[in-house]
Parts: sequence; structure tokens; C-alpha cells
Amino acid sequence: PNPERDRLLQAYEWTAKFYHYLLKNTEHGKAAMDYLRQRGFTDKMIDLFQIGYAPDTWNTLVQFLSRRSFDLEEAEKGGLLTKRSDGGDYLDRFRDRIMFPIHDRSGKVIAFAGRILGEGQPKYLNSPESKLFNKSRTLYNLHQARPSIRKSRQIVLFEGYGDVISAWEAGVQNGVATMGTSLTENHASLMKTMADEVLVCYDGDRAGQAAAMKVIPLLENVGLNIRIAVLSDGLDPDEFIRKYGAERFMRQIIEGAVSTTKFKLIYLKKNHILLEEDGKIAYTKEVLPIIAVLPSSTEREVYLRELSSELQLSFDSLKQDCNEIRQSMQKNM
Ligand code: UTP
Ligand code: MN
Ligand code: MN
Ligand code: MN
Ligand code: MN
Repeated sequence: PNPERDRLLQAYEWTAKFYHYLLKNTEHGKAAMDYLRQRGFTDKMIDLFQIGYAPDTWNTLVQFLSRRSFDLEEAEKGGLLTKRSDGGDYLDRFRDRIMFPIHDRSGKVIAFAGRILGEGQPKYLNSPESKLFNKSRTLYNLHQARPSIRKSRQIVLFEGYGDVISAWEAGVQNGVATMGTSLTENHASLMKTMADEVLVCYDGDRAGQAAAMKVIPLLENVGLNIRIAVLSDGLDPDEFIRKYGAERFMRQIIEGAVSTTKFKLIYLKKNHILLEEDGKIAYTKEVLPIIAVLPSSTEREVYLRELSSELQLSFDSLKQDCNEIRQSMQKNM
């Protein structure tokens, strides 16, 4: 038994309900509600994800918690409040932000991510780590995704809260996201305990696609199968769904997810101008080693044939180069 922890959990639960109430039922929450609606968030998703609003005041939460006789020092240590730098009063940590509660896997609120309305920095303000909240072990929406993960043995991994929520509405009930940190080994091991496959569905911008490249080895190391969704035009999953609709997202992005090898080929292609000889050769040098490590010769053939038709190079010469790379790799092992 850990009474301080239980009290903090209670405070987080109350606070999440309070913020959700302020968003939905008060004048304070109106601008935030307008913002969410204009982005396409439905009432159903606002309720299911318990989205809220922290008002633009200094001590609304302070008063709310003290009226419920909650120890304010504990709330400050637990990340709900801050203290004035001169050591004086307690203040609300989150002000004028859309609040996304973060739950642990049993569904208890353990932290918040607060989004600014519109432009500004930081875009998301997260709760600090606390007795309850360890970023590198937490996955957003895991509590609601678990039944679907258990059934499908698959997890869909997103970058952002909005992506998880829009994808849920589009039909992805096994979606989770990390929390403003890149994926850690802890996350990977946790996922391996629940699933056999992770479908990485990161943003279509450069940063997102580079992040997808980085998670491949982490997921491979724990023995997870990997598929990667390829988003174009720099859109993130949420934006794609708003722009093209749920049906196209499910078909093109989720069902159309590719192997890690295919993803690497697509990713590396962007660095080269394939219409020029130099570009073609440089690209080939980069991708042949990726194909050469594939253990199955059928698999190697599939990618070599694709490469051959795309670059208009003979299959035989590609295969010969690939085999040479393979032999020299085997020698070095
Ligand atoms: P993005 O910049 O892609 O934000 O960061 P987003 O999720 O698409 O947010 P919207 O659609 O603009 O509202 C992806 C994720 O990185 C973390 C958050 O977890 C965010 O969802 N992040 C980003 C932060 O923690 N802090 C930031 O300031 C920005
Ligand atoms: Mn509700
Ligand atoms: Mn992004
Ligand atoms: Mn994004
Ligand atoms: Mn977004």
C-alpha cells in the first residue's frame, strides 16, 4: 500500500474530470472547443479520450484541489502544480491548454499533455516525470488499445496524440503513441510482451520518416515483425485522414504498409536524382547492401527485380553486384 501514490492518482482523476467538464460545459472552454471542432475532433472522441481544457488563470486548479483538501505540496511534487519562483504561492502548471490525459495501462490517469491553442511554443507541455509517470515506459492510449492488440497481436505506433485519436475513429483500435520522446528499448520490450508485429505509422515529413528509420533496429532487436506506413506530402496520419478520409487511410496507408526493406529503399531514394547517372549509381551502392543481407534469395530477387525496372538496369548486373557484396559480408563475419 502506498497512500501518497493513491492520493496522487485520485488528484489526477479529479483533475482530468474537472478539465473535461470545463471544456464541455463552461464559457472558459469555448475557444478550446471551437479549436477542437475546427480541427475535426468529434464529441465522441472528446469523450472517449477525455479531452479537457485548462483555463487561462493562475490558480483554478489550486482552488479546486484545496477545496477537496488535497495536499498542495504533494500536487506540486506530482506535477499538477508549480510553485512561484520566490517560493510563495502554488500555481496551476497548465494554463490555456487543451488537455490530453495520459493513462497507465489499467486506465488510471497518470499525466497530461497540454496543447497550446493554435501556434506557439512549446506546442505540447507534458507533465514532468513523477511517482506515477515514467515517459520511457508509457504509451498513450495503451489502456484502450489492449483488447484489440491482444486479438490482432499487432500494434500501430504513431507519433502524436491527434494521430491516435483520428486513426481510432477511422478504425485503428490498436494504436498507441510515445510521449514527446523517441521510442526506447523499454517501449520495444513492452510491445513485444503484447504483440508480434508493430506497424510504424509516423509523420510523412522528413523528421517523421527519419524517426521511422531509427525505430526499425530497436523493434528488430526485441524480435518484433515490422511494417511501415508511408505517408506522402509531409502529412501526418491525422492530417491525411482529415484530407482524404478514413476509408482511404485504412486502405492506402494501413493496408498498404510496406516491409522495412521496401521502406529503406523509398527513404534513401529521396537523396538521389535517379535521372542522372551519378544519382543512379550512388543510390544503387546504398541499397544493394540492404538487399544483400536478406537471408532469403526469393526476397532478394523480388527487390532486385523492382530495382532493375525502376532504374532500367539489367537484373543480371544488379544480381551480380549484390552477390559480391553478400560474399564479402559473409567473409567478414
Ligand atoms: P508533432 O509536431 O508532429 O505534433 O509532434 P502533432 O502530434 O502532429 O500535433 P498537432 O497535430 O500539431 O496538434 C509529434 C508528437 O511529439 C510530441 C507530442 O507527443 C506530439 O504529439 N511533441 C511535439 C511534444 O511533446 N512537444 C512538442 O512541443 C511537440
Ligand atoms: Mn465525457
Ligand atoms: Mn511531426
Ligand atoms: Mn504530427
Ligand atoms: Mn498533427
